[in-house]
Amino acid sequence: MDNVKQFFSGLEMDTWSSAALLAGAAAGLAGALVSLARAVDGHLDARRKIQKARKLRDDSLLKAEEAVLLYKKAHPKMDSSLILSLSLTELTKKLQDGQLVPEDVFYSYMEKTINENKRLNCCTTILLESFDHLKTLDSNKRGLLYGVPVSIKDNIAYKYYDSSCGLVSNLDDPAEKDSVIVEVLRRQGAIPFVKTNVPQGMLSFDCSNVIFGQTVNPHNLNKTSGGSSGGEGALIGGGGSILGIGNDIGGSIRIPAAFCGICGFKPTVGRVSKQGVSTVSPGQKSVLATSGPMAKDVDGLALCMQALLCDHMFDLDPTIPPLPFNMQVYKSAKPLRIGYVENDGITQLTPSMARSLREVRDLLEEAGHTVVPYNHLRIKDAFLLIANGIFGDGGASLVQKLKGGPFDPCLKLQVLPLYLPRWLRKILSFLIRPLSPRGSLLLQCSTGAGSVVELWEQHVAVQDYIDETLAEWRRCNIDVLLCPMLGPAYNFLYCGRLTLNASFTALYNLLNFPAGVVPVSTVTAEDEEELRHYEGFHRDHWDKLFKQALSGSQGMPMAVQCVAPPWQDELCLRFMKEVEDLVKQSRIK
Ligand SMILES: *[C@@H]1O[C@H](CO)[C@@H](O)[C@H](O)[C@H]1NC(C)=O
Ligand SMILES: *[C@@H]1O[C@H](CO)[C@@H](O)[C@H](O)[C@H]1NC(C)=O
Repeated sequence: MDNVKQFFSGLEMDTWSSAALLAGAAAGLAGALVSLARAVDGHLDARRKIQKARKLRDDSLLKAEEAVLLYKKAHPKMDSSLILSLSLTELTKKLQDGQLVPEDVFYSYMEKTINENKRLNCCTTILLESFDHLKTLDSNKRGLLYGVPVSIKDNIAYKYYDSSCGLVSNLDDPAEKDSVIVEVLRRQGAIPFVKTNVPQGMLSFDCSNVIFGQTVNPHNLNKTSGGSSGGEGALIGGGGSILGIGNDIGGSIRIPAAFCGICGFKPTVGRVSKQGVSTVSPGQKSVLATSGPMAKDVDGLALCMQALLCDHMFDLDPTIPPLPFNMQVYKSAKPLRIGYVENDGITQLTPSMARSLREVRDLLEEAGHTVVPYNHLRIKDAFLLIANGIFGDGGASLVQKLKGGPFDPCLKLQVLPLYLPRWLRKILSFLIRPLSPRGSLLLQCSTGAGSVVELWEQHVAVQDYIDETLAEWRRCNIDVLLCPMLGPAYNFLYCGRLTLNASFTALYNLLNFPAGVVPVSTVTAEDEEELRHYEGFHRDHWDKLFKQALSGSQGMPMAVQCVAPPWQDELCLRFMKEVEDLVKQSRIK
């Protein structure tokens, strides 16, 4: 019995791979031979595609580097360090009134991006057309982002470039036209100039794939940048970009923003156009993805939202409600009633998470806001709804897209169960429940819906959960929520083994509430010391893994998460701005 117990408590690679082997054996020898032949063929094809993609990236970086050198030679007086030190608000002001020219700004950021990429491996390609767009900028029509270089996540379509989603199967399939976001950014005078890295398949909060490799954290090269918008997080955190566009289905903007010490905002789904933005399972309709901005400060996020929410976007994508940015709400100073979530009942916060959260709570109270405790409803149900939403097809779409290429090490453990038949996952989940409740839960998390009836039941359950939550907000009479944010950044290869940690952020994708993160602190020596005594609520294999994932984090950025009700994006940003200001002021004191 003890042996069995040990076996299952170590359930990870071992159980899943042996179960996968069993299932594989059952598939029969003949089938295996055919697939072997196909696999060899596919493998060669994959290698060719990967090499081509890497060469395209390297060539684009070289060309950009040459162009930067030429420009610098011709403009020896350009003050790059001044330009790179400006906030987005300051930069746009200087560009608008002509104190700075777009060329200097563009080449300063291009140079910094090329250098940061050498350190962080965060770019998938330089968008060489940006050099031409720079030349055709119309100085008579100065949009809100006139002359601002912008980075975009790999999955946002830009004509002639792949949206790989980190998948070999998506390579060699360049976009035929620009996404609406890219078009609108350009109409506002911005210059999208680089695409950034993502994890294989983008359903992970790490940032590594077999094409472009691992993106690392600008604050500590031994840590992940987080993901899936990890290339954005790293590049902006490292100073190579002042504004970026990410995409978030379970925390994919917020996690890398928090890990890399910048701000990130996930708007209400429906506010920003999805046209031309790729995901792995576009048919999945119960936990929705949206694009949103990532920047050094909250004003940068707000300016980007203001620029995107314009008539041009409403024209190009009439499915988006024509709601311009509400500046009055963003600038409002009315005291807020803030729900405060310290404990979700199933995870124990790390010392640095708990401390950061409490410090911000105290600052908000001192500033005259009312803070009331808030507890999430039926949190375990919510987690299952999230998992069964994202993997409603039992992971079939992801498995399909993963074909034709090897697995990235960061993804392997996370996806192995998806290769077991659904019924086997269900049985295994049931059998191991007494021995490893959390292993059982993990298996259950990917079983999805078995029929249309079950899928519709899931949709109803999600709607019920949203309605109940809204009623609870009303009962507590709160305007916004202050929540803990996952952090600090993990050591390599842990994200894929701790997928449930995305619950801190994914809950607001399920609810479709706008949510954003603001950096508020860094890990202290005392936090590190206290972490040594962290045992977690379950005191099991995963709690230990989690502790290992965080070890050696002193000085790493920590954030909090701010949440508002659906369509109150401006309120969410205003709350974030308040947190940012209060933290800044408290540092000066
Ligand atoms: C990163 O890891 C290397 C090798 O283990 C170590 O020498 C170095 O000090 C680490 N860097 C940081 C910033 O922790
Ligand atoms: C992260 O996830 C692991 C595995 O589920 C868990 O043991 C740990 O408590 C979680 N930590 C937090 C802060 O959520």
